[in-house]
Amino acid sequence: MKMQLNLIGPGRLGRALARLWHAAGLLEPACVLGRDPARTEAACTALGADRSADWNTLAPARLTLIATPDAAIAETARHLAHAGVVREGDLVFHCSGALESDVLAPLRDNGALVASVHPLMSFARPESATLTDVWCACEGDATALAVIEPLFRALGAHCFAVAPGGKLLYHSAAVLACNHLVALMEAALLSMEAAGVPRDTGWRCLQPLIANTLANISQLGTRAALTGPVARGDRATVQAEIQATTQMDEDVGRAYRQLSLLALRLAPEGVALNRAEILAS
Ligand SMILES: NC(=O)c1ccc[n+]([C@@H]2O[C@H](COP(=O)([O-])OP(=O)(O)OC[C@H]3O[C@@H](n4cnc5c(N)ncnc54)[C@H](OP(=O)(O)O)[C@@H]3O)[C@@H](O)[C@H]2O)c1
Repeated sequence: MKMQLNLIGPGRLGRALARLWHAAGLLEPACVLGRDPARTEAACTALGADRSADWNTLAPARLTLIATPDAAIAETARHLAHAGVVREGDLVFHCSGALESDVLAPLRDNGALVASVHPLMSFARPESATLTDVWCACEGDATALAVIEPLFRALGAHCFAVAPGGKLLYHSAAVLACNHLVALMEAALLSMEAAGVPRDTGWRCLQPLIANTLANISQLGTRAALTGPVARGDRATVQAEIQATTQMDEDVGRAYRQLSLLALRLAPEGVALNRAEILAS
């Protein structure tokens, strides 16, 4: 008999995962518990779940996914513990990037095994999302992960461990590399526009440079991939560009200065530029 999955929070991620596991014949969606009755009923139908439930009618399942927004996970765990349906040895997990499994402590206190698995992926369209080649950060009870990780791997995902206490910095890394990359591209486009280059031309001409830089990081590592005025120790250019970007937009200028400090850590030893000169610009 297939393992049953209770889904609490049938939003973008919850619907995507439940649909994929059901389609792969790995799990049987049992109960779906959401906030809005009509949306929850529609999710049940789409996922082939037995029924929608509320906190009074939720039935036990071997596996429960809490897929409510991060801010509601602790409260949802408390409700679930209070509902008394989670049995000794049942597995409960969430998929937040920033929160650890200890947010599920009330369930662990009731004998459940808890974990968190964060897929590094955006589930904008739950009907067509896949987990093929998606990397998933895993932490929590080893016994829970021994069951949950293979479910992700069976969908083509790769699992890796994050040490206890490491989720915030792990998630910061993802935010820096993804969301803040978008912010950095916006800063570059603002500078292009201020230089009189239209935004679409600016983006077209930056794209090959960005692609080449990413390829260099993959092949050579960050230190060898760093080129430009900081790597060359071109103090005059760095100082002038900090001033020019600050004049254009204070936030962009600050970003240029802070990123120059980080770049300096990667510059060749003995480069003719130091932190104080960057900070004073
Ligand atoms: N979406 C992604 O790309 C993505 C990627 C990786 C990880 N995650 C993680 O996945 C989790 C869910 O994110 P999401 O983007 O799928 O969120 P979402 O689309 O906003 O869905 C959240 C679901 O939880 C329901 N809900 C909200 N508060 C609730 C409560 N107090 N009790 C019961 N149900 C409640 C919502 O109901 P309503 O429909 O009534 O609002 C909705 O069905 C988060 O931990 C997030 O960090 C998401």
